Amino acid sequence: MTDGDSKHIKVSIDQLHPGWLVDRDIMVDHNVLVTAGVTITPKMIESFRRRGIEELEVARDSELAEALRAKDAEDPVTTLLARTGEIYAQHNLELAIPPEVLEDATDQVEGFFTELEMGQEIDMDVARGVVNNLVGIFSSRANLAVKLLDLDSFDRYTYRHSINVGLLMMLVMQDWVDSQQELEDLVFGAVLHDMGKAKVGADIINKPGKLTDAEWELMRMHPIWSAEMLTEAEASPNAIGIALNHHERLDGKGYPEGLGADELNRFARLSAICDVYDALTTKRSYKAKMDFAKAIDIILQGCGAHFDPEVAHEFIRRVGRYPVGTFIKLSTGEIAVVLRTNERAINRPVVSRVVAADGRQIETGEELNLAIRPDLYITQVVAGVQPT
Ligand SMILES: [Fe+2]
Ligand SMILES: [Fe+2]
Repeated sequence: MTDGDSKHIKVSIDQLHPGWLVDRDIMVDHNVLVTAGVTITPKMIESFRRRGIEELEVARDSELAEALRAKDAEDPVTTLLARTGEIYAQHNLELAIPPEVLEDATDQVEGFFTELEMGQEIDMDVARGVVNNLVGIFSSRANLAVKLLDLDSFDRYTYRHSINVGLLMMLVMQDWVDSQQELEDLVFGAVLHDMGKAKVGADIINKPGKLTDAEWELMRMHPIWSAEMLTEAEASPNAIGIALNHHERLDGKGYPEGLGADELNRFARLSAICDVYDALTTKRSYKAKMDFAKAIDIILQGCGAHFDPEVAHEFIRRVGRYPVGTFIKLSTGEIAVVLRTNERAINRPVVSRVVAADGRQIETGEELNLAIRPDLYITQVVAGVQPT
């Protein structure tokens, strides 16, 4: 359940229960979906699912909302999420980039976007400084999480996305480079990959509906504009290529140029994967459906036509199918938190149990390495969507 507008709360259809009476109209996108007086049936829920409806708007002051709130409060997952900070602290789960540094870097990136939107130039030395600071910290803490569940920050998507793509790319690229300077330069390209969006204009970037042809035409320019800025800042050809080609696809159906596979090097190929992965796993609502494992599946499905399979596998080995900090359900019905990924067994990370099968919260669970526990397996992701 998340905040909707002043009159409605947003509810995932998973939270609906057959038998509940709808005492006020249920809406979807401001249209009436179920009229008051109807009782919810399993068939009804099924039909919402088939139609791809994930979220409903329920009147805030209705009895149905009251029932949902009561249900939410006793839900073990809600209780678990409320304990997230405590669980992370108990298990020494930390971000590779400390939250205050991340916050600061996000502010800086926001500042660059604002300056560009106002037609000003950004100081590329300052931008490089921000990136080099991230690279320096990351290099010493690369075994820690790139992203962790963060239930508070739903906003500032574009700015955090810029940094996330930089960090995700760095995770893989650190094995591809010969020097720290080379890595800094490539991450500079990655962090600035969407900077050209500042020229597209916020009204188009944040437009909720479909873009018109003219708007789309402008949108397709953003990699070119990002690449121009990097060229002026004397970034290396590979760093420029990251920005220029992050929307290109191996089958030539990407943009801006529609380049084919032989024109896309591994840096460009990696940028496409990291860009999509971050967009998929960054949702505004933590109860949204898309989870890390599903995002990995989408990347795998796109291998060949869109993404390079070898680069994708390298990426997946690094981030894992269930990244550090993800809450997963085990075949025993218990919920556990992922402590470390196993590079050789991406479906079998090292975990620690946090909720028993009967819903009881476990204070300090022992470490379980699923790679050597064939009797246990992961059945689902309980909470793994990061609204960073
Ligand atoms: Fe982009
Ligand atoms: Fe992007």
